[in-house]
Amino acid sequence: MAPTASRRSAGEREFAMRDADFRIIANAIYDHAGIVIGDHKKELVYSRLARRLRQLGLADFTAYLARLGGPDGDSERNHLINALTTNHTNFFREPHHFDYIKDVLVPHWKKRAAKTGDKTLKVWSAGSSTGEEPYTLAMTLDAALKGDPGWKWKILATDIDTNVLQHCREGSYPSSAISGIPKGYRSYCERDRREGVDRFVMSQALKSRLVFNRLNLHASWPIKNKFDAIFCRNVTIYFDGPAKQRLIERFVSMLKPDACLFLGHSESLLGARST
Ligand SMILES: C[S@@+](CC[C@H](N)C(=O)[O-])C[C@H]1O[C@@H](n2cnc3c(N)ncnc32)[C@H](O)[C@@H]1O
Repeated sequence: MAPTASRRSAGEREFAMRDADFRIIANAIYDHAGIVIGDHKKELVYSRLARRLRQLGLADFTAYLARLGGPDGDSERNHLINALTTNHTNFFREPHHFDYIKDVLVPHWKKRAAKTGDKTLKVWSAGSSTGEEPYTLAMTLDAALKGDPGWKWKILATDIDTNVLQHCREGSYPSSAISGIPKGYRSYCERDRREGVDRFVMSQALKSRLVFNRLNLHASWPIKNKFDAIFCRNVTIYFDGPAKQRLIERFVSMLKPDACLFLGHSESLLGARST
């Protein structure tokens, strides 16, 4: 029988996780989502999954792997992915990308529309996490385009993690997060009026601009239209070189000829072939 927390000696783990168990989990995440989990992340994997084993009433990681390989394996794999993704994000993260949209791309799109008569825009936040990035995009576009009637624009927000997507859909954030939103944009945030709730929600008008979908960047993309801009920031840092290369090529094929791909500051195309 597994020792209870009170009987366990210092350093003894609640659930046995052999190195081989860890490798199988790391390989499953890599094969499915392209996320590389090195040996130095063993403790992190253990602590994130221990909660799940407790929830399922399992004795150890061998039992967990049996569940992953069993009839409920597909749905368990989603739990595994949700537990192991890194979702850190915030509003107006790497703010000069949004200045670039406002100061360079919007004027360019307006000129283009004056020539073609086409006032539609599509932007993709790929790896949108809990929504701060797509809502920042929506605030930026709404504010920059509202003086010029007739624009139809949508933002596609996708992530592999179903928990963060649900958060994204709700568009509800703790009041403390508002400090990351410049004062001129705070009219898009409405106080959550429920008793005892210290949160704000993004306005319905803004939410109506967003489309949320679960999408694994390493699987097929059921997307037909091309984009004016793709944001895929702080996502490829978890992938290896070949996976990153494939992804960049696929993004390029989804961009209109004058469109932009935004990567995070710590990501680069160095080492990726030019096409
Ligand atoms: C660190 S967050 C970045 C959020 C936001 N783009 C930003 O820069 O603030 C990385 C996100 O990428 C998502 N992700 C990781 N692998 C993915 C994959 N294969 N397909 C789709 N999303 C993935 C994670 O679930 C996570 O929400």
